[in-house]
Amino acid sequence: MQRIIKARLFLKINGFVLITGLLLSGCAGRPIGNNNTADYRNGMVVSANPFASKVGLDILKKGGNAVDAAVAVQFALAVVYPNAGNIGGGGFMVYRSATGVTNTLDFREKAGAAASRDMYLDAAGAPIVDKSLYGQLAAGVPGSVAGMVAAHAKYGKLPWATLLEPAILLARNGFPLSTQQAGELNNLREKLLQLNPDGTALLKDGTWAATELLKQEELATTLELIRDQGRAGFYEGRVADQIIQEMKRGGGILTKTDLQQYQAVWREAITGAYKGYRIITMPPPSSGGIALIQLLKSVEPYPLRRWGFQQDSTVQLMVEAERRVYADRATHLGDPDFYDVPAKALMEDQYTKDRMKNFDWSKATPSSVVKAGKVNAKEHEETTHFSIVDKAGNAVSVTTTLNGSYGAVVAVKGAGFLLNNEMDDFSVKPGAANMYGLVGGEANSIAPGKRMLSSMTPTILEKDGKLFMVVGTPGGSTIITSVFQTILNVIEFDHNMQQAVSAKRFHHQWLPDVIYTETGAIDSLTRVKLEVKGYIIAPRGPMGRVDAILKTKQGGYQGAADPRGDDQWLGW
Ligand code: DON
Repeated sequence: MQRIIKARLFLKINGFVLITGLLLSGCAGRPIGNNNTADYRNGMVVSANPFASKVGLDILKKGGNAVDAAVAVQFALAVVYPNAGNIGGGGFMVYRSATGVTNTLDFREKAGAAASRDMYLDAAGAPIVDKSLYGQLAAGVPGSVAGMVAAHAKYGKLPWATLLEPAILLARNGFPLSTQQAGELNNLREKLLQLNPDGTALLKDGTWAATELLKQEELATTLELIRDQGRAGFYEGRVADQIIQEMKRGGGILTKTDLQQYQAVWREAITGAYKGYRIITMPPPSSGGIALIQLLKSVEPYPLRRWGFQQDSTVQLMVEAERRVYADRATHLGDPDFYDVPAKALMEDQYTKDRMKNFDWSKATPSSVVKAGKVNAKEHEETTHFSIVDKAGNAVSVTTTLNGSYGAVVAVKGAGFLLNNEMDDFSVKPGAANMYGLVGGEANSIAPGKRMLSSMTPTILEKDGKLFMVVGTPGGSTIITSVFQTILNVIEFDHNMQQAVSAKRFHHQWLPDVIYTETGAIDSLTRVKLEVKGYIIAPRGPMGRVDAILKTKQGGYQGAADPRGDDQWLGW
């Protein structure tokens, strides 16, 4: 089986060599079992797609730093991973320099100026589900291009054009689809036809086959404009006109002013501690960082290591922490530029301790009795994550998304890129669940110019003041719990990076009151012990695709790519 996977990748990569002239050197890695203990000294790139990882590695080898590589990978993913890689979406970057300076970049989409609180409700006040999920009206103002420009301006070393070139080549000349990608595009055919009556590069006569080349000429031209004009190549001129035309075609509301005014924002990282490790993670408008710190603090006083990996006490404790933290998320978290998020209060030691006080080992706490805590201060799915470390030891952790798989499923005519459907991440009505079953209220209500709340949790860990781990994942509401589990797998259960990533996952998000499990995540005895206490356990498909890097004791980097997708690590 492993041999088949390797052979297919080899063919794909050979195809890439023929097309683009880039060479793949020996240190390729795909998650082969749980045995990835190799150690690379000069740098590492882990992303959802082998071509994108290769683009990142080449940039590192050319002398680019981790931010240069991240910019190149972001644009490459927009081509080779169109379900989530994007220029029409947004995301978050967490940065830690080799000397320990930290920063985060928020390039999350924003609601357009014409957005309004009830824009996705019918006359009776009920949410019209598809309205925030498909079509032009589902899109927020894209942030990715502004984000990459801002990241490059602050930290980049190589020329901007060098970072765009590989993506342009891949778009213009094409790349071979993986089996998973061909299947996804075929499944999406009806929706693509319906929402793109004039066609898109993602549609063809007949069905897509694995290894078939996907060429995206229009996208290549758009990327060339971005290469030559920077942010103006996207937010002004021809591409901006094409976006506005697309809005007119499908009842969207974004305007030229919305595009021109969009700014990515540098924000101070959220930091916290767990048993001697320092966690550096994303502040609001992502909920991920605060929730991750809350989760870690909630379980810190307990002997997880003694209980063991995925044993009943371990699972029960983690689930009870998750239930409480997601209840807090629903009430307290939103765009900090619009809502006073009580970040400090939510992460205080005493607060997390108090939140866990009413938990009873003998039975499940029903979610119906768990409300958001009172804080003292006022204050189908696709996304993708990549982790990068460069030769000097600078680290970048980026999670980026269109929200749902292929976003709003609308490609901007003539410009060849997909629009996001990020507006669904707002709470369209208090208490109404979004596509991930997440509920929210006032903190995350729709307002013009506001950023929708995210779960994305790009994170970097330090130990003894030195880089320890770079981690993150897609997965909608399961992002936070997947990052949480991956960190605990390494720190508490002595997994190597690949074991921690490959391990089966479980998830609880307060509502619905269910523990979702991947097949094999919980053994039958543990399951019975939990069910007797009143926990409802339900199977779910794969959760997340964690792409992570661990700094080893020997001083090298150990990559881990999630076997749930086509993900790949490459080191040198
Ligand atoms: O920002 C968020 O939390 C969501 N838009 C992320 C979507 C996602 O992870 C879908 N992927 N699997």
